Amino acid sequence: MNDDIEQIINKAAKEIKNADVASLENLKVKYLGKKSVLTQILKSLSHYPVENKKKIGTQANKAKNIIESEIENRKISLRKTLFDEKIQKEKLDYSKSFYFPFPKGSFHPVIETIQSISAIFKSLGFSIAEGPEIETDWYNFEALNIPKNHPARDMQDTFYIDEMKNLLRTHTSPGQIHTMEKHQPPVKVIVPGRVYRNEASDASHSSTFHQIEGLAVNENITFVDLKAVLMDFVHKFFEAKLSVRFRPSYFQFTEPSAEVDMQCMFCKGKGCKVCKNSGWIEILGCGMVHPNVLKAVKYDSDKYMGYAFGMGAERITMLKYGIDDIRLFYENDLQFLKQF
Ligand code: PHE
Repeated sequence: MNDDIEQIINKAAKEIKNADVASLENLKVKYLGKKSVLTQILKSLSHYPVENKKKIGTQANKAKNIIESEIENRKISLRKTLFDEKIQKEKLDYSKSFYFPFPKGSFHPVIETIQSISAIFKSLGFSIAEGPEIETDWYNFEALNIPKNHPARDMQDTFYIDEMKNLLRTHTSPGQIHTMEKHQPPVKVIVPGRVYRNEASDASHSSTFHQIEGLAVNENITFVDLKAVLMDFVHKFFEAKLSVRFRPSYFQFTEPSAEVDMQCMFCKGKGCKVCKNSGWIEILGCGMVHPNVLKAVKYDSDKYMGYAFGMGAERITMLKYGIDDIRLFYENDLQFLKQF
């Protein structure tokens, strides 16, 4: 190859290698443009002797092609570098922000309450059972001494699945019946689970919520046992020696029945917004198991007696953390949930 042409190719190669996007355009003009040496050579071919014409013409064209493709390659590699840099700057780095360190999930505050209440009762000798959320009228009402057309049914209107036979359970109390059907006394069990009521939701009501049922049946079980267990529970769960009081109440499946209040832990009984200035907060319903319930599961109601209690898991969680709207539990709002 002609020395001059070879020199041009080498020089161009060096400059192209180090060029950025802007200078690459200048090099294109410099080596391939109208005023470039190669174009000049091609233009002046007529001045060359015939034997050199073809040779030099071919070499100059070849040189142009080489330089042109080098410029193209450089352009592509510059574009790739720029693109990579841009991607690097803009892309979501999944490896870093998502998986490393992996954001750990946590239990829902209501589930956490159920777990810690279960652990407390386990330490008091209770076992843990679960029952179905779809119940028959028998388990949810009849066996619990709530006959058809009894006004007590009004307090727990539910969602019926078919002709008044299958329904969504309104409380965890059917768990009492399932347990007693399966086991002979002594029985000591808690039944946590989801329950449903046909009612509009507001700050303190929800059509879906959770309860924890408790049941103990044996010979010689008295109200004193019930009181002792519930007081122990309150002290352990709220981690404070709060006073507990039993107020007479009414449930079809317990007799006598009581509502349990505990001293307001926000004002220590002095009276505040949470306890509506009474100093007391209602936390659960309870009582001695009604003989008709024992009879429904074919227990000897002369020989055995027992106590039962039921509490709302959302309510207890709200009390523990001072949450004033039950709907917050169901909105899936991470800002709220991450606090627990
Ligand atoms: N099942 C009752 C309710 O949902 C609570 C309860 C349970 C009361 C056990 C007494 C005994 O209101």
